[in-house]
Amino acid sequence: MATTQPFDMVLFGATGDLVMRKILPSLYAAHRSGALHADGRIVALGRTAGDLSDYLAQVQAQSMPHIKDIGDDWAAFAARISYLPLDAGEKDHFQRLADTLGVRPDRVTVCYLATAPRLFTKICAGLRDVGLNHAGVRVVLEKPLGHDLQSSEEINADVARHFAENQIYRIDHYLGKESVQNLMALRFGNVLLEPLWRREWIDHVQITIAEEIGVEGRGDFYDRTGALRDMMQNHLLQLLCMVAMEPPANFSADAVRDEKLKVLKALRPFSADDLALRVVRGQYRAGVADGQAVPGYQDEPNVAPESSTETFVALRAEISNWRWSGVPFYLRTGKRLAARLAEIVISFRDVPLDLFQRPNSLQSTNRLVIRLQPEESISLHMLGKEPGEGMRLQPTVLNLDLHAASRRRRADAYERLLLDVIHGRLGLFMRRDELAAAWSWVEPILDSWAREDTPPRPYAAGSWGPAASNALLSRSGAAWHEEI
Ligand code: BG6
Repeated sequence: MATTQPFDMVLFGATGDLVMRKILPSLYAAHRSGALHADGRIVALGRTAGDLSDYLAQVQAQSMPHIKDIGDDWAAFAARISYLPLDAGEKDHFQRLADTLGVRPDRVTVCYLATAPRLFTKICAGLRDVGLNHAGVRVVLEKPLGHDLQSSEEINADVARHFAENQIYRIDHYLGKESVQNLMALRFGNVLLEPLWRREWIDHVQITIAEEIGVEGRGDFYDRTGALRDMMQNHLLQLLCMVAMEPPANFSADAVRDEKLKVLKALRPFSADDLALRVVRGQYRAGVADGQAVPGYQDEPNVAPESSTETFVALRAEISNWRWSGVPFYLRTGKRLAARLAEIVISFRDVPLDLFQRPNSLQSTNRLVIRLQPEESISLHMLGKEPGEGMRLQPTVLNLDLHAASRRRRADAYERLLLDVIHGRLGLFMRRDELAAAWSWVEPILDSWAREDTPPRPYAAGSWGPAASNALLSRSGAAWHEEI
């Protein structure tokens, strides 16, 4: 793995959950693998007064439990960290930060904004005021970027006042997952799949991100957000783009993002009439998760008792272009579902003539399954001959997961994306126009939910969501792929 150049990683919101659970463990993994330059500093910023030893005690309590394997190199990693209290409203706090870092356009300075988005504008202006928007500075923006198209455009316009677009890294950690990138390699590095990758041969596509967990102490945030904004508008649509995009002219960040944008713009808009047929929203009730009784969503802490926020959404998307016209893309995500499962399933059409009188269970079995969770894998489901006498078919699975075969350590999504930022690689980060296109497409759904009085459909915690989500597929003879 190539070592990065010298860098400063400035973490805004460094005492928060994201930094403790994901960012520090990922930086430690990068440190362990030797990917970080020896002159790479981590500057943690938080609102609480305190010194480095307080902060490191907090890291020990809150971050270390999320690290699988802590070695004797932890001390060397911790030596990279310094702590500065910073209040985004205080100008002299930014000056203190600039004095600590030095204003050095020749040095990579990553400012990771792991804070509430309402602080993004203030933070970016504060950085600009002290000269920390020079060419070496990159800002990483965490989702959710806004609440709707307008608020997201406002944030983007504010950030753009201080930073050029190529300094802005809008992170979607799903794009950092290895199998998503492997999908690109399989599609564009081989001649075999591409001719089949179109309406003539693909029956439908499913994208599922199912979570077993509930709102996990984030009731307040989640109740204002819901599954459509939290997962669908970003993670699921980004995965859809990866499946549906045309081959880019080259692998530069903008060439890839141009193709993703075309997909988002070709999504068939929802009309008032077909919303009811194409979108299902649900909310979990009490049930069982992982063998334990769990409360319903409305009984979670910091959730309004009569909340109509959706914890599940399934929808049928269509892409109006020559490659995909008429092919349904079924997308679903939800909390407190039967299993933790994230996958993309490409279901191919059946052979034109059944020579082997296959039973129903072996009809339409050609599938490419790209699994992101619980384990990452890619497999091609086909039929072969059952050994022995006669001519009976049996399912067979080709494992296309080269990574598993190589036994190399698999970097986690955040680790890979953080290294991309330090290296200045923008390809896996969302461009402003992509974000706007994604918001434009989901907005009619949000508007219609805001208008209607019908509550989300209930489903029991530990199930696969409301029955109506199955009906979305069964109308065209398909079913959700739920093999764990
Ligand atoms: C985040 C959402 O973006 O993704 C969370 O805000 C969700 O609600 C999480 O739990 C899921 O990510 P992963 O990688 O654990 O599937």
